[in-house]
Amino acid sequence: MADVPYVGCGVLASSCGMDKVMMKSLFVQAGLPICKHIWFLRSQWKNDPAKILRKIKTELGFPCFVKPANLGSSVGVSRAKDKDSLVEAIDLAATYDRKIIVEEEVVGREIECAILGNDEPQASLPGEYVVYDEAARFLDYTEKYANTGNVSFVVPAPLSKALTTKIQRMAIRAFQAVDGSGLARVDFFVTRKGGEVVINELNTLPGLTEVSGYPKMWEASGVSFDKLIEKLIELAFERHREKALTKTSR
Ligand SMILES: Nc1ncnc2c1ncn2[C@@H]1O[C@H](COP(=O)(O)OP(=O)(O)O)[C@@H](O)[C@H]1O
Ligand SMILES: [Mg+2]
Repeated sequence: MADVPYVGCGVLASSCGMDKVMMKSLFVQAGLPICKHIWFLRSQWKNDPAKILRKIKTELGFPCFVKPANLGSSVGVSRAKDKDSLVEAIDLAATYDRKIIVEEEVVGREIECAILGNDEPQASLPGEYVVYDEAARFLDYTEKYANTGNVSFVVPAPLSKALTTKIQRMAIRAFQAVDGSGLARVDFFVTRKGGEVVINELNTLPGLTEVSGYPKMWEASGVSFDKLIEKLIELAFERHREKALTKTSR
């Protein structure tokens, strides 16, 4: 509204990339494979918890993942292994959002891909979060930020050429599905059973410090940190110029 060029996604992509339920329905529209999930509102949970618990049990089973629909950094995300932990997980997620999403557990590798560009987005070589300690059941807040030594980020991810290309194409399609611009990091699972690729989420504001995954993936793809920042700024101006082509009055 201030007519100032800025780095990254616009309002629509930013908000769709924030809401895991909305994002998933856009992915389905774009023909991208997602995991089984259900969602409900905090008020529905308060009014009839038994109905929601039944639905989760029959449609998803255990273990399952419970998340606030609009958050990040694994805040409010829990792995529920039975009914008691499920109730606790939903109560926790409901403190962070009015919308809650529950997903089946996807057992597999966690692969990420970085996107850079506006109307012609490019995909980096994918990276992988490798978990050394099985006790780190998933990438929770501590594993992401406390440097526990349980996980490390490996780039490029050791994947076949075919799988690398497939993930890059899917990451670009996901970016276009939310009408992204500038940058995004797209996160996938490659299932242990069958090696299928399932898209987990797209992050429109990925970590951008020198130790974050997003710049590491570009570094491995031949774009240094300094070049990356320069490119992001150029893309902001490019988008601003493109937007200026639109008439805003008769
Ligand atoms: N359906 C799932 N199956 C298995 N692990 C999951 C699932 N959903 C999330 N996780 C684990 O939880 C982490 C955080 O979930 P994610 O959806 O990425 O939320 P956030 O937006 O907080 O990063 C993931 O990186 C992964 O380790
Ligand atoms: Mg995530």
